[in-house]
Amino acid sequence: MQQFDTAALSLEEKASLLSGGDFWSTQPLDRAAVRAVVLTDGPHGIRRQKAGADHLGFHASEPATCFPPAVAVGSSWDAELAARIGEAVGREARAHGVDVVLGPGVNIKRSPLCGRNFEYYSEDPLVSGALGAAFVRGLQSQGVAASVKHFAANNQETDRMRISADVDERTLREIYLAAFERVVTEARPATVMAAYNRINGVPAAESRRLLTEVLREEWGFEGLVVSDWGGVGDRVAALAAGLDLQMPGPDAVHDAAVVRAVREGCLDEALVDASARRVAALAGRAATPDAESAVPVAEHHALAREAAADCVVLLKNDKYTLPLAEGVRLAVIGEFAARPQFQGGGSSLVAATRVDAPLEAIRALGHPVTYAPGFTTDGTGDPEALREEAARAACGVEVAVVFVGLRGDTEGSDREHLDLPADQVAVVRAVAAIAPRTVVVLSTGGVVCLEGWHDDVDAIMAGWLLGQAGGAALADVLTGAVNPSGRLAESIPLRLEDNPSYLTFPGEAGHVRYGEGVMVGYRHYETVGRAVRYPFGHGLSYTTFETEELTVDVTDDDTATVRVWVSNTGERAGKHVVQVYVATSAGRVRRPMRELRAFTKISLAPGESRTVELPLERRAFAYYDVEAGRWTVAPGEYTIQIGESAARVVAEQKITLAGDAAATALTLDSAIGDWFAHPVAGPLLQEALMAGATEEQRRQAEADSDLMEMVASIPARQYLHFPGVPVTTDDLTEILEATQ
Ligand code: BGC
Repeated sequence: MQQFDTAALSLEEKASLLSGGDFWSTQPLDRAAVRAVVLTDGPHGIRRQKAGADHLGFHASEPATCFPPAVAVGSSWDAELAARIGEAVGREARAHGVDVVLGPGVNIKRSPLCGRNFEYYSEDPLVSGALGAAFVRGLQSQGVAASVKHFAANNQETDRMRISADVDERTLREIYLAAFERVVTEARPATVMAAYNRINGVPAAESRRLLTEVLREEWGFEGLVVSDWGGVGDRVAALAAGLDLQMPGPDAVHDAAVVRAVREGCLDEALVDASARRVAALAGRAATPDAESAVPVAEHHALAREAAADCVVLLKNDKYTLPLAEGVRLAVIGEFAARPQFQGGGSSLVAATRVDAPLEAIRALGHPVTYAPGFTTDGTGDPEALREEAARAACGVEVAVVFVGLRGDTEGSDREHLDLPADQVAVVRAVAAIAPRTVVVLSTGGVVCLEGWHDDVDAIMAGWLLGQAGGAALADVLTGAVNPSGRLAESIPLRLEDNPSYLTFPGEAGHVRYGEGVMVGYRHYETVGRAVRYPFGHGLSYTTFETEELTVDVTDDDTATVRVWVSNTGERAGKHVVQVYVATSAGRVRRPMRELRAFTKISLAPGESRTVELPLERRAFAYYDVEAGRWTVAPGEYTIQIGESAARVVAEQKITLAGDAAATALTLDSAIGDWFAHPVAGPLLQEALMAGATEEQRRQAEADSDLMEMVASIPARQYLHFPGVPVTTDDLTEILEATQ
């Protein structure tokens, strides 16, 4: 690329680079040899708008492989798989002349009601961050840039362009920024997309703290920050905060505002230069569009099928109902079997190259099948007649498989409840009353409530939204061609009311208060002992695994290596997820009962065993210390736990960490208890307080623990003013100096 020289360009030219050229591309600048960069959604497939199509017409896009959306990939717990999908999406992006794919979305599933949960991986930042980072690595290996989104705290659709997510700093760092931090530092995405919402009153697109101090200065991000589409209210403020590119464009009014602000001395031209340089660098970096290369459509469909099968979570499997025995007489019921719901609505909608329906796929496997739709999802038909037809179809078969789900999960709106439609539940119950065995397959963009019918059926499979090959993948798992290996990346509560965000989601009067703090999802359920229907991390298998011989080696700098011996003790090949949690009450903050700190997925043949080794970085033990403004490892005891889920620990070992020295420096306003605890100041203060006291008085003071407890929380500055305290502010200042 020719050197990009901002000095050779006018202010107007530089400003013009900072808003889009049209809906999906940036503004070229021929004089500086900066070409237009093409950005499209993503991320589970390319949504390349057809030439001339209206920009909001989500359907008018070129055919592309619709891979499983993030809700499914999150449940795979398989970073390698996420990377392979990223790579395939990258290949298709290149073939469509796309430079930047707008994804992955690594926002946290704070509430199960969020309408875009199907685009996000998990309620846990490690799962979200590890899978997001892997996707970015795969995508960018093809020369195509990623845009990790929506930065940050974009956890609902209600009032999404204005709502202020009011989040305390520790919660932001530990939960809502953590996945972004991992993706940015580990996978180096070329771009980051700022969120629509505000954070603590400041629009994310105008937050210097977020876009410059945290993203660039702390995490070392060197790429470009792009707005979400239409997400810039004040471009000058956004630019000053660190947002480089406003999309879509062009936006002559905002370009002129930038020029004016510089001329009037309100905006440093160096910031305009830096952002223009980043746009030019992106144009220089992005892959040369390779419109010639054909997409390997069949190969990508096969990958979509393989991936989808590994995302399915077998929630329940009583009486060995699954896998289906060969030649078993089946009733397949439910509109979703014939007309699958394989992705959500909104900007990520992909025009799939083909779609596999479960019904056809099951038939293709040679099972004798009677089919009944059971219900409709468009309000047509007579529910009772449809239900009766389904019940008749279930007569005389050995197993009924009922495909139910939701059609409405979409960007732009949140769900109002977690229930399946009543007519679908009625069909499930009617069929379960007749068929000797009933399996329910769910197609939903997020978790739904299973109460009211869970106990009536023998097996339940969470099929999420599985992408275009989901139908074949479901048949693979139902028949046992593939062993189910998905794990819940989001807890399934008994009731919506049990979810920790219940009382505050989606907020009121423009604010949503993240009152549950770090206790999101399983962190809350486990900490307060609230029963759930199925916990985070849960997922059954057709084979059995055993985890033994846990050992943990700790280093002097508070990192550790976890080793376990895992065996496939069953009769089928299968994949297993090793989940490592850390539990501690060390430190001066409320810790969740346990937190996922490492995981991996392994594949084992029947009878095969293997040692799995997982590193735990310091961060695995740290909390964000808001007073010190840094991550802190508290000295103390930590329990390393291997979980079958967040609720079921199968092995554990305690370790002790030296941790960080007291993070906060003493001040005159520190509590007396902190002064006493300080290794230097403590003894000096004790001495000063006891100056002139008799031995007897000293003994009494030391023995009076109630008194000590009472005074412990008094700020030192105020303590001095109690009658009889023989220490002055000058004395304290002198002691403080001795601690320096
Ligand atoms: C969505 C983004 C998307 C963009 C472009 C916005 O409405 O929030 O996720 O990438 O549109 O379609």
